[in-house]
Amino acid sequence: AFIVTDNCIRCKYTDCVEVCPVDCFYEGPNFLAINPDECIDCALCEPECPAGAIFSEDELPEGQEVFVELNQELSLIWPNITEQKDALPDAAQWDGVEDKLEYLER
Ligand code: SF4
Ligand code: F3S
Repeated sequence: AFIVTDNCIRCKYTDCVEVCPVDCFYEGPNFLAINPDECIDCALCEPECPAGAIFSEDELPEGQEVFVELNQELSLIWPNITEQKDALPDAAQWDGVEDKLEYLER
C-alpha cells in the first residue's frame, strides 16, 4: 500500500484525494490516512502531494515506519474524503518541518 507520512501533518493539502481511483483516503483534523486494504498501489497520489508526504510502503524513508500502522489505524476511525478542499491555513509554514508527529490530532 501507499502510506501518508509525517509531512502531511498540519499541511493537509488534499490534492491526493482527487486522483485516487478507489477513494481510500480518510480525513482527520490535520492529517489524512490511506486504508491499506483498499489501496490498489496505483501510485497516482504520490506525485500529486505538494508536500511529498506519500510513499510506497516498500520505499518508505527512514524513520517513517510508524506511519504504516497509523494509516491502518486512523483510516478505520476517520471519515472518507474524496474531494479536494483548502489546505490548512498554516500549511506553507509547516511544509518541510521535521518530526511533526507530536502535533497529530485525532
Ligand atoms: Fe489511492 Fe492509488 Fe494512492 Fe493507493 S496508490 S491511495 S489507490 S491513489
Ligand atoms: Fe497530505 Fe499531501 Fe494529501 S499533504 S492531504 S498527503 S496532498
